[in-house]
Amino acid sequence: MKTIQIIDSKNHVGETVKIGAWVANKRSSGKIAFLQLRDGTAYFQGVLVKNEVGEELFDVAKNLPQETSVMITGEIREDTRSKFGYEIGITGIEVVGESHDYPITPKEHGIDFLMDHRHLWLRSSKQHAVMQVRNELIRATYEFFNDRDFIKIDPPILTGSAPEGTTELFETDYFGEPAYLSQTGQLYLEAAAMAFGKVFSFGPTFRAEKSKTRRHLTEFWMMEPEMAFVSQDESLEIQEEYVAFMITKVLENCDYALDVLERDKDLLKKYTELPFPRISYDEAVELLQQNGFEDITWGDDFGSPHETFIANHFEKPVFILNYPKSMSPFYMKPHPTREDVVIRADLIAPEGYGEIIGGSERAIGYDYIVEQIEKDGLDRKDYEWYLDLQKYGPVPHSGFGLGLERTVTWVCGIDHVREASPFPRLLHRIYP
Ligand code: 4AD
Ligand code: MG
Repeated sequence: MKTIQIIDSKNHVGETVKIGAWVANKRSSGKIAFLQLRDGTAYFQGVLVKNEVGEELFDVAKNLPQETSVMITGEIREDTRSKFGYEIGITGIEVVGESHDYPITPKEHGIDFLMDHRHLWLRSSKQHAVMQVRNELIRATYEFFNDRDFIKIDPPILTGSAPEGTTELFETDYFGEPAYLSQTGQLYLEAAAMAFGKVFSFGPTFRAEKSKTRRHLTEFWMMEPEMAFVSQDESLEIQEEYVAFMITKVLENCDYALDVLERDKDLLKKYTELPFPRISYDEAVELLQQNGFEDITWGDDFGSPHETFIANHFEKPVFILNYPKSMSPFYMKPHPTREDVVIRADLIAPEGYGEIIGGSERAIGYDYIVEQIEKDGLDRKDYEWYLDLQKYGPVPHSGFGLGLERTVTWVCGIDHVREASPFPRLLHRIYP
């Protein structure tokens, strides 16, 4: 007899098989019992009819506590009433591991309780769906960049540099020297782009964010492509193609997960239609002012209500271009004809999900970069290696960073970025 996974049921209709699973839920009447089974690949129901399986097995099934692990024997059948489409007619149950008083019951629980039990909460169907979408976005990322001959580069996590500013740094002691957990791999990726042309990284990054919002984690994963001989305009095209590609792949391969999440697939499909609108920071400020946002003036950073208004206005992800230099990192290329803005673009997701990409064309010129580093209050000696790139064949280059968890949150249509990470690190939360 074959041992299969639930997801493979469609290939075994009419066969008697074994499946290792957990009992997620159950219900029974006097004559028939239903076990909601999960094995990590999918959820489906097991059915036992008392007259057919006998009293002894029926009683075992009826009394299985939630999250008992079991080896099930039975016949796979079509089940047109369920979303999944298949079920198993159970003829044997072997208890593998007992479970007692599982804390997450089918009733509603408060968010603090669920977060304290994140290690168990992951077993629920919604969390399962979110992690499947996350996995698909990661898989699609490798496919997209590998198909375009990018080389994956892994920048260090421990670093002496702080390109995104010094206020949100996690500092640690590195044999008597201060070191930081990386905020971005970008500077290293720029060095790698000068060695390999087109590179990308995918790894954890850290920000000691003191703000408690629906969008901020202190540890999150970023995809960071960096491309030599590529202008900002070309980079924007790659960015929108990449985002559309990821969504297309989720639509193709995560249909069931999107159903569990009750995500509007037509809406997602709309987000694959290119190009995404582009507006300048100046235009964005004007648009906000014309629509009742009197609090915003040129030079201000956009808050969440501002970004939400702008993206909803276009009903699509939208690029905001050419931000004020005063609020941008040192490494961004100055605008060729304007002193006050840099060649930067953020991609803002619709439906209130906020910024998912930050990117720019990179500054070139030794003296200019030294000046900017010093203006930002950074110690030049920590960046000598980065400045070397200006001495040996510098070229125009561009890159960007896409936040994985923000993208997962948006594609899944969930409320909070904390559910987009298996074990989220948030302000005041490092357990479990
Ligand atoms: O805009 P950011 O800060 O850009 C950079 O770090 C660049 N050095 C990237 C590059 O050009 N290589 O961050 C990029 C993205 C944001 O758009 C957002 O999606 C995500 O990273 N992000 C966060 N996600 C979750 N929690 C946080 N605290 C985040 N901070 C940024
Ligand atoms: Mg940003």
